[in-house]
Amino acid sequence: MLATGSSSSSNPVTTFPTSASAEAATFKGNQDSFSLPWVEKYRPSVLSDIVGNEDTVARLSVIARDGNLPNIIISGPPGIGKTTSILCLAREMLGSQYKEGVLELNASDDRGIDVVRNRIKMFAQKKVTLPEGRHKIIILDEADSMTPGAQQALRRTMEIYSSTTRFAFACNMSSKIIEPIQSRCAILRYSRLSDSQLLKRLIEICRVENVDYVPEGLEAIIFSAEGDMRQAINNLQATHSAFNFVSYDNVFRVCDQPSPEILGAVITSCLNGDVDKAVTRLEKFWVDGDLVSRCQVPCYARIHEVGVHQGITIKFLDLKSGNRTNTYADD
Ligand SMILES: Nc1ncnc2c1ncn2[C@@H]1O[C@H](COP(=O)(O)OP(=O)(O)OP(=O)(O)O)[C@@H](O)[C@H]1O
Ligand SMILES: [Mg+2]
Repeated sequence: MLATGSSSSSNPVTTFPTSASAEAATFKGNQDSFSLPWVEKYRPSVLSDIVGNEDTVARLSVIARDGNLPNIIISGPPGIGKTTSILCLAREMLGSQYKEGVLELNASDDRGIDVVRNRIKMFAQKKVTLPEGRHKIIILDEADSMTPGAQQALRRTMEIYSSTTRFAFACNMSSKIIEPIQSRCAILRYSRLSDSQLLKRLIEICRVENVDYVPEGLEAIIFSAEGDMRQAINNLQATHSAFNFVSYDNVFRVCDQPSPEILGAVITSCLNGDVDKAVTRLEKFWVDGDLVSRCQVPCYARIHEVGVHQGITIKFLDLKSGNRTNTYADD
């Protein structure tokens, strides 16, 4: 049974539908893959199923239809559809010739200079007959983890084989791609997904998977996902598997992240000068010294909502920028 349309939350992310829309009824995910994690089961296989970043996805759809793919870099934060978009694009462009026309390399492969000299060059030299306007595609996922030496070695390969082979890079930070490669590419920036985009997808998955939820449960997932669809779907599945019911409390039990109320109370205690109380509240979340990275983004959201004085907000941002491991220069 689904419990929808009865949100009692004071801050609903959007309106919850009371009945299945026609669109939701056609959403089925990958039905052949019951044992797959939901993030894979519901990975879009065509560009039109990708949620958000509409303008950029529309550009990709035009390229998929007309051909002549330029070298591209898709950059942006994790879990928002960069790899998925490139895979959909390659599939739509090459169809049944995908297997012979696409070389996929990701961070789990060795991508030092030897790979560029050997695998990439060999693939670029390989003869594959493709229709007019279609090119072989080399997908370099998580390209920002390629060594600068390997990136340098790519420059010439990209030029020499440009009449037959095009490159599609996905990365979190385009600034980590060397400038000569950036200048050979069209750079497409993806941004985090909005609350309503996440919500719509979560509701679709809940319907197909028969997930029991209350609106506050989905709002909690959206709060903790911070625009990351992968995180949202994983947290939905984890909460459903652990408790069989997606409620606000169950989500925060699974997410290992303090709830907005607790963070709000900590910030209020600090503002009232009651640091001991704030510390006691926070101690509960002190696991393996990872407190800062798990709290900084939700904390910033709460500081905004609580309406903290601008000077204090700026100090918080100063502290946050001292710990940049969790932030994305392109974001
Ligand atoms: N825009 C989206 N629309 C629909 N599903 C999405 C979208 N973005 C992410 N997902 C879901 O999250 C999963 C991971 O997406 P993807 O691999 O494309 O993320 P990414 O942007 O490449 O992340 P990373 O930077 O970590 O590599 C997908 O399998 C899909 O289930
Ligand atoms: Mg990716």
